[in-house]
Amino acid sequence: MSELVSLAKAYDKYFKIGAAVCPMCIQKHHDLILRHFSSITPENEMKYESIEPEEGVFTFEKADIIAALAKEMSIKVRAHAPVWHNQTGAWMFRDGDKPASPELIYERIDAHSKAICEHFNPIVYAWDVVNEATTDPEKTGDTNPIYRNSEYYKICREGFIEAAFRSMDKYSPNAQLFYNDYDEWMPNKRERIVTLIRSLQEKGSRIDGMGMQQHYFSAPDYDELKRSIEIYAGLGLRIHITELDVSTTATLGPGAKRLKPGEPGFNEYIREAMTATPEKLAKINEIYVKLFEIYRSYSDVIDCVTTWGVADDMTWLDMFGFNRGADSIKQHPLLFDENGQPKPCVYQLIDAVR
Ligand code: GLA
Repeated sequence: MSELVSLAKAYDKYFKIGAAVCPMCIQKHHDLILRHFSSITPENEMKYESIEPEEGVFTFEKADIIAALAKEMSIKVRAHAPVWHNQTGAWMFRDGDKPASPELIYERIDAHSKAICEHFNPIVYAWDVVNEATTDPEKTGDTNPIYRNSEYYKICREGFIEAAFRSMDKYSPNAQLFYNDYDEWMPNKRERIVTLIRSLQEKGSRIDGMGMQQHYFSAPDYDELKRSIEIYAGLGLRIHITELDVSTTATLGPGAKRLKPGEPGFNEYIREAMTATPEKLAKINEIYVKLFEIYRSYSDVIDCVTTWGVADDMTWLDMFGFNRGADSIKQHPLLFDENGQPKPCVYQLIDAVR
């Protein structure tokens, strides 16, 4: 093992190394972030409900903490994610006691875009303009062929996607504009995402990049990952890995038992599947090494690899679980452990590029 140099510096010639951060995590891991990362993304602080909890009322304070860190680091922010079906106030979709019209939604998106760009443009290099707008019948039961049946979609059909890109292009002409989604390496989901992107391109929207979230709940399929990077790059897009983390369930082999919530024995199964063991931690380590090997081999199109969090002490996966309401089971999905110490894979990732 090498003595530890900065991960971000070691990867300088490949891509930026990013982390999703929050004010509490900045307090706790300030030095670690400064040392090992070269891009930051606000975990929640730039989402619609954080910035505009009520129409026309803008609250930038928490996001400003992240902007201040970026200034301190002399880097820019990878900003995330104004137009999303989650974490958006109900007011967006209402007009008094009636549903809002598509035109009203577009006006609201435009006013929001103007406000966030005027405030953040100097410190942002890329925006996830629209997040997760494709359908996911396997998980949501929604049967639309391409687009998620969100409140946005019910009112505007896919028009809100184009409207969001149009406004961000107008107010943030110098930042890169991304579409961001999950399970983006799975063939079915990928096909829908490609349709969405092509349709935006045909309408003349400026879309610069594809955000591949890379949350792993099941074992990565490395061939599909490579194919996906090639397909998105083939659309003329830059690629950012935007939300990488590896759940303990991703360490189960393809033949492992899989139960769905509600099936007999689910609770025992999920507890066992999610509980960390030395073998599962070693597997997570191995997954990171393999993923980065692939990312490096596509560094001509990948500009940034962001993990969804800094260290294992603060990860959304502890709160998520597959069985809502059940006790949480500690997850270890990131590159740094609960004490902010680099895991073996960090040494391996650095050794691989020395
Ligand atoms: C999605 C969103 C992120 C975050 C994660 C879970 O992937 O894009 O902003 O909310 O879910 O925390």
